[in-house]
Amino acid sequence: MADRAPWSEDRARSILSEFQDIRGALLPMLHGLQEEFGCIDDPAIPLLADALNLSQAEVHGVVSFYEDFRKTRPGRHVLKVCRAEACQSMGAEALLAHAKSHLSVDRGETTADGAFTLETVFCLGNCALSPAVLIDEDLFGRVSPDRLDALLADYREGVPA
Ligand code: FES
Repeated sequence: MADRAPWSEDRARSILSEFQDIRGALLPMLHGLQEEFGCIDDPAIPLLADALNLSQAEVHGVVSFYEDFRKTRPGRHVLKVCRAEACQSMGAEALLAHAKSHLSVDRGETTADGAFTLETVFCLGNCALSPAVLIDEDLFGRVSPDRLDALLADYREGVPA
């Protein structure tokens, strides 16, 4: 996974300006900021509020509402376990429980060594190969607990499958 840029107000303003003129700009702006910085930094809130003529509370509300937006920087890799229907029927909850236990984190948390952040997602478009996970930008299907352990070991060592 690419290194996350440290917070930069100039860079943030530049990202916001890319979306300034489109309708419903808040979500694209938030996605743009998270893509650049890995999370929505606190100083982004007043910038967003100013740019869109919203209150800071309104911006906070949107950031909190959507699970996609992180408040803190993720680990070097982000593991997303699908929890939508097809994956649920193929053992996604057990896989998520295994991931939590294997990594010693809860959903939304990062491992102590900073290697992995564990998140959940609703459908990765890989339903025919449930249960599915995404590690960084890489999609995997029919992931058993043992296969997940092997994948995580590969990513931890920097040699993604
Ligand atoms: S339900 Fe998991 S990929 Fe679609």
